[in-house]
Amino acid sequence: MKLKNFFGSAILFAVFLGITGCASTPSAQSPAIAQSKVSYHEPDFLIGYSDWANTFSKVVSNSKSPFYGFLRVLVNDTALPAYKTGSAYLQGSVLVLEFNGMEEVSDSAGSEITMDKTIWLAVMVRDSSAVETGGWRFMALDGVTFREKPEVDPVTGCYNCHLPQRTNDYVFSRYSR
Ligand code: HEC
Repeated sequence: MKLKNFFGSAILFAVFLGITGCASTPSAQSPAIAQSKVSYHEPDFLIGYSDWANTFSKVVSNSKSPFYGFLRVLVNDTALPAYKTGSAYLQGSVLVLEFNGMEEVSDSAGSEITMDKTIWLAVMVRDSSAVETGGWRFMALDGVTFREKPEVDPVTGCYNCHLPQRTNDYVFSRYSR
């Protein structure tokens, strides 16, 4: 118990140092800091994706789950008719499963969950040349840099789990707005 308190105080102290350190930073350094900031852009097939139709949402609150987060499925205009009706997905269809952080606030009246920043994106792009993975290109992208995660194998890491949905073109979620 005492040890815990000690660490608690040490962390608070470190945070305090961090805050005061920041406040005393001379403003002359600001331009240098601004210059070092890199801005990232989504790849062409994802431009404007956060404005696409949000067809399905769910919250996975277990932080140990690989599916943790405030999840949203977003689909582009080409994919929307097929997603709604179950007809064939045309070339150019893009489906995004967005994993966002969440903020939970609880009080005696209950709890509220707010969506936070994007952690990562699971993406399916219709591409008939992707014969190994059912005519979809599966990829996992970092939510900030949009870089593809090299450790994810599209067959064993994505496609194999989507296989049971082959009669629905490998798509799990259903329109639920
Ligand atoms: C363990 C099984 C599993 C694995 C592995 C998996 N998915 Fe999924 N995926 C799902 C389920 C289930 C859904 C439906 C949303 C939900 O309920 O979480 C889904 C939804 C999606 C969606 C939205 C369209 C749809 O099918 O509903 C995309 C896009 C997607 N996954 C891409 C990927 C990519 C890319 C990978 C690999 C990085 C991947 N998935 C790995 C189970 C899986």
